Amino acid sequence: MATVSRRGALVGGAGGAAALSLSANAGASAPQPGQALAADTPLVSLSDYEAAAQKRLSPAAWAYFSGGSADEITLRHNREALDRLRLKPRALVDVTKIDTSVTLLGQKLPHPILLAPISSHLLAHPDAEVATAKGAGLAQAILVASTVSNRSIEDIRQAASQPVWFQLYVGDDRGAVKALIQRAEAAGCKALCITADNPLAYARNREERTKAIQPQLPFPNLGITAGPGGRGQSRRHFNWADLEWIRSFSKTPIVLKGLINPDDADEAAKRGVDAMVVSNHGGRVLDTGPASIEALPLVADRVAGRVPILFDSGVRRGTDIVKALAHGASAVLIGRPYVYGLSVGGPEGVQRVVEILRTELEGAMALTGKTRITDIDRSVLWPGA
Ligand code: FNR
Repeated sequence: MATVSRRGALVGGAGGAAALSLSANAGASAPQPGQALAADTPLVSLSDYEAAAQKRLSPAAWAYFSGGSADEITLRHNREALDRLRLKPRALVDVTKIDTSVTLLGQKLPHPILLAPISSHLLAHPDAEVATAKGAGLAQAILVASTVSNRSIEDIRQAASQPVWFQLYVGDDRGAVKALIQRAEAAGCKALCITADNPLAYARNREERTKAIQPQLPFPNLGITAGPGGRGQSRRHFNWADLEWIRSFSKTPIVLKGLINPDDADEAAKRGVDAMVVSNHGGRVLDTGPASIEALPLVADRVAGRVPILFDSGVRRGTDIVKALAHGASAVLIGRPYVYGLSVGGPEGVQRVVEILRTELEGAMALTGKTRITDIDRSVLWPGA
């Protein structure tokens, strides 16, 4: 196995999460990924973390984390479609108290930001998902731990002080799938997040170009060593019958992740999933499909409140969260941004990324005149948005 260096460790550590800054060269105040910043420039937005992470990660790690599929049209579209939506400001509302808490699967959470399942955290930090779990604890966020993590689900759970959900890739070997579910349940995971949208790796060109320099990583949940993403087992078989089979014995709520087509969402609701995630896997599966935020209102209309809906793919600002909640989501997940936080600042970097987003969410709620999450509806969207 190639070694992964400690380059992703804390910078500016003495001051804690709030003091994270970029140790690089001079630059401007509104950075783009890859743009140089002065060493003492504080990291104040998720795009600052992205730019800082690009400097720290190896080229193979950067290609793996930042890339999408094929021409990355859907990857870009996720952001463009969120940016295109306009919010409607609201004046003269008493916003002294803003309550960002939500209840999800019966559990009260202080904010609606979850950490999406992402593989291969060892590329970002030497303690891999164990460091992420600590960061999730600091951020008071649910971590959805990937099947293809570099640390075992037992180790991740042990490091966590907040609920952990287990993301499951349903491989073709039913015996292995059942054993993994039972391991996750025994470890104390609070939900099973079953990924529906990724039966194969479709044209991951950016990753493929770095194949020669990719390290081999351990994937203890699967007992394999492989390149980033850990593909080893086939998961092409997974279909609705397999989902029924899992429901027949699993003890934890099932969250189906990766639905874009309203027909699929309808089917999932009929089949009794406990929640679903509208997601296009951060633009890493079907390229030229719609932005996740474009699918969300269609799915929400079709599901019509039968099942809570979560949203991901492209969330980078508090305003994005308001837009997702307005279109029917109960909560959002972030993917790449917290991994960039992990790479730049370890657990405190994860915490800081969530804190930035949560503070922005409070601000965006105040400026749209909403003081509680459940008050956010389509009235915050500018007509035609
Ligand atoms: C992912 N995603 C993902 N999803 C999943 O169900 N299991 C997994 O192991 C992974 N691994 C993974 C690796 C990397 C590098 C990325 C970027 C994404 C998808 C992830 O859970 C989530 O849907 C997206 O990351 C959300 O988009 P943003 O927030 O990254 O734009």
